[in-house]
Formats: sequence, C-alpha cells, structure tokens
Amino acid sequence: MSRYFLTTPIYYVTAKPHLGHAYTTIIGDAIARWHRLLGDDVHFLTGTDEHGQKVQDYADAAGKTPQEFVDEIAPLYEQAWQRLGISHDDFIRTTEQRHKAGVAELLKRCYDAGDIELDVYKGKYCVACEEYYTDDELDPGDLCKIHKRPVEYYEEENYFFRLSRFQDRLLAWYAAHPGAIQPEFRGNEALGLIKGGLRDFSVSRTSLKWGIPLPWDSKHVAYVWFDALSNYITAIGFGGPDAGDAERFESWWPGTHLIGKDIIRHHCVYWPAMLMSAGIEPPAGWAVGGWLLVGGEKMSKTSGNVVNPLELIDDIGVDGFRYYVLAETAYGQDGDFTYEGLISRYNSDLANNLGNLLSRVATVVGKKCEGVGPASRADSPLAAAAAAALDGATEGWAAMQPSRALDATWQLIRATNAYLEANEPWKTEPGPAVDAVMGDALEALRIVCLLASPAVPATCQTIWERLGLPGQVADQRLPEGARWGGYPGGLTVTKGDPLFPRR
Ligand code: ME8
Ligand code: MG
Repeated sequence: MSRYFLTTPIYYVTAKPHLGHAYTTIIGDAIARWHRLLGDDVHFLTGTDEHGQKVQDYADAAGKTPQEFVDEIAPLYEQAWQRLGISHDDFIRTTEQRHKAGVAELLKRCYDAGDIELDVYKGKYCVACEEYYTDDELDPGDLCKIHKRPVEYYEEENYFFRLSRFQDRLLAWYAAHPGAIQPEFRGNEALGLIKGGLRDFSVSRTSLKWGIPLPWDSKHVAYVWFDALSNYITAIGFGGPDAGDAERFESWWPGTHLIGKDIIRHHCVYWPAMLMSAGIEPPAGWAVGGWLLVGGEKMSKTSGNVVNPLELIDDIGVDGFRYYVLAETAYGQDGDFTYEGLISRYNSDLANNLGNLLSRVATVVGKKCEGVGPASRADSPLAAAAAAALDGATEGWAAMQPSRALDATWQLIRATNAYLEANEPWKTEPGPAVDAVMGDALEALRIVCLLASPAVPATCQTIWERLGLPGQVADQRLPEGARWGGYPGGLTVTKGDPLFPRR
C-alpha cells in the first residue's frame, strides 16, 4: 500500500471562507478520495493560518485580541468543509501547541545550519500578501500587483534566511525532479523565479507581537510565511514531544501540496530551501491552480467581490457545487465564475445526463423487469466505453486534472444514454432483449458510481443503493472494482426522487 500525503494551503482567518478557498479544498478532497479508491493510505491535511500582521490588523479593527478573533473565525472553516463533504484527516491551526513546537525546531535547525542571520531590513511590504517587494515588483504608486493596494515601508532589525545561497541547489533539485510542479507551465514560473536570482528574505519581525517567538531571540517573532509553511510538517509530528512523532513524520513526509498560483514563490522557492537547510527532503510535488475570477478579477476579501460557497450549495446542492468546481475549469488555468455557468453545468451534466440516466434505468427496470436488475453481459457493446472511462479517469486524476477525469467519466454516461436511445427498451416487450440492454446499463452506472464518487460522493452512494448494491462506494477498490461485469443481477432497483431536478 502506498502512502499519499496531500495538503491544501492553510487559509488566513481574516474572514469566512469564500469560493476560492472552497475551490482548492474541493480539488484536494476529490484527489484524496481518488487515492483512497486506489487503496492508498491517504492523509489529507487542511487548516488555518492564524498569525501575522494581517490577522493582527483585522483583530484590531474588530476590537478583539488576535486569539479571540482567530478562535471565532477558524471554526467557520471547519464548518464549511464539513458542509462541503470534505474528507480531511486533520485540520491544523497554527496557534496550536503542536505547531509552535515544530516551527521552533525548524527555525533552530536552519539557524544552527548558519542559514539564518541578523541584518537590517529596509523596504516595502504588502500586508495582504504578507510579502516584501522591491520597487520593480510593484505597480506605479507603490501598489501591490495582486491586491492593488499601497504597500507599507518598514525599517527594522530582522533575521534573514539566506535564500541567495540556495539557487544552485534548488535548480539542481528541480532538474533531478522533472514534473514535480504540475501543470508544467506553472513549474516554469517557479524556475523563472529561481533563475531570476534569489534575495534573502526576512524571517522575523520585532514590531509585530502576534507570532511565534524565535527560540534563540524572543524579541523577534517568526515571519508568518516561515510559520505557515511549517504546518505541512508540524501537523504530521515534526518537532513534536511525543514518542512516535518523529516516526509519524518519517512515515508521511514528503507530501504533495495543492496551492494557488499566488503562492508559488513561497511554496516552490522558499519552502524547499528551508527544508534543505534543515536537512529535510523537499516536497514530493506541487499542483498549482489558477484563480477563479469574478467579473475578470481575482475573488478575494481584499477586492470585495467575494462569493460565499455556502449560499451556492443552498441553491444547487453540495454535489452540484462540487461538480461545477471540479469540471468547469482545467486545473492550473484561471476560471471565470458565473452563476449562469453553474446552472448550465448542472442542467447539462447532472440533470440531463447523470440524473436522467438513473431515472430511465430505474423506470424501465421497474416497468419491464419487475423492479429486479438483470445481470450484465460479458460481451456488452458498452464494455469498451467503460474501459476507456476507467483509463481516462485514471490518467486525469493522476495528472491532477479533475476536469479531464470527469470528462472521461461523463463519456461513459453519454455512451450509456445513447445506447438506451438506440435500443429503446421502453418500447420493447419484456423479455431477454430488454434484460440484456438493462443489465448493460446497470453495469455502466455501477462503474460510473466508482469513477464519479471522488467528485460527487453522496450522489454516487445514493445511486449505488438504488441499484441495490450493498455497502459503500468508498469501500470499493480500483482498478478491479471498475472492470466490466461487477453488477451481479437479481438486485432490487429503486426509482426514488430525481437526483438533480432541473433548475
Ligand atoms: O495565502 N481562486 O492564504 P489565503 C482560486 N495563508 N483559488 C483561490 C482564490 C481564488 N480567487 N482565492 C484564494 C494564504 N484561493 C496563506 C497560505 S500556506 C502555507 C499559507 C485559494 O487565505 C488558493 O489556493 O490567501 C490560494 O493559494 C489560497 O486560497 C490562498 O488563501
Ligand atoms: Mg490571499
């Protein structure tokens, strides 16, 4: 059994989760579920990023202490993920003791390695990015390119991480690990940053109190990105006090990171260098998503064009929303969120294709087969379409391309609907001809349940039960579970309510 450790970014707790956060988290959830179907031992981690200037500023504005403030917001993320059916195995908050201990250990290792040194920082800082910028990285008027907001000027004594020493090591590592960053063009962006020359970055602040103190100089708190990135190892036991923590860390690390394109520099440049300095292996890989835009702009708290995912699921259902997020945009590219797009995906793929297929099958089995599903035939004309769907889905999920995996899966749904239309079992007298067609359609639907379940898990479990199949879809295993011929026949098929009423 192989081990698969997958992470999402930990989100800033400056406001409740928006569609952009839900996007990355749903992609992670679907990939984690796919790996569980493959029989991998999966550890899927998400959490919240609770220190730093930005959180301090929001807490001040709300008239609360930072701890009170984060204690109110962090549960909103856990609740949202629960409503969206996210199957994370752990949720880390950077204000937890287990995290603080691990960050201190990582800092100490880099310090002992001689890669963290005291210096003076003079320059510009975007609080929304929690990032230092040079003049040529800013828009006219000293505006941050991402947030279009003025940066702040700082001058203070800081410890610096000597990133400039890591250029050759990073380039050598990436050369030895081609394809570590997916999709490839995002990897080229990261290499461009490294080849363009690396500046040391500040890893501590004295003017900020809301953070983790440096173990060797407690006047300073750790820079929020050093703190935040460490979550990926502190959550699995790095630097932990308990017997077994080190072993747990060794058993899961290295992991695969899902991130948005806004945080490539931190994840693909800073983070592997920090790990190298500390004598820890770099991540296994990164999958970088584009942005969901609303009206052509990145959705963000700072831009004020936020869409609340929980309102959308009230409207279209959890699986309707999950499917849209996974199927609509090629992962890595930017996508445009529109309400019309959401409805049209729902109607075409869920109501007219998947929902309609189940309803036809259940209706005909009810009317022509006395409600008992016939077995499939080994030489079914649909067997090739099912094999192609399994191959396409396997390839798509492995490439971190849910939209491709789902397209391959929906090909089988379309092929099965077309097969029914060609044979018109609803017009045929009950008997072997109808039984043959319906056995094939039931088997195709059974396979669809497995392949679509990472995206629309609750729906697939419902279909599974209506086909009369026992147990949980999530307990099936690929690829063997999706080989043609698994529907045994003789099971009671239930019609039930429409899965996806048209909107
Ligand atoms: O950057 N479209 O947190 P954050 C798609 N705490 N994805 C989006 C998005 C959008 N419009 N908006 C946000 C931070 N995201 C740090 C991360 S990790 C060690 C620390 C997603 O709350 C996307 O994955 O700003 C992006 O990278 C992440 O949320 C940033 O969330
Ligand atoms: Mg952000």
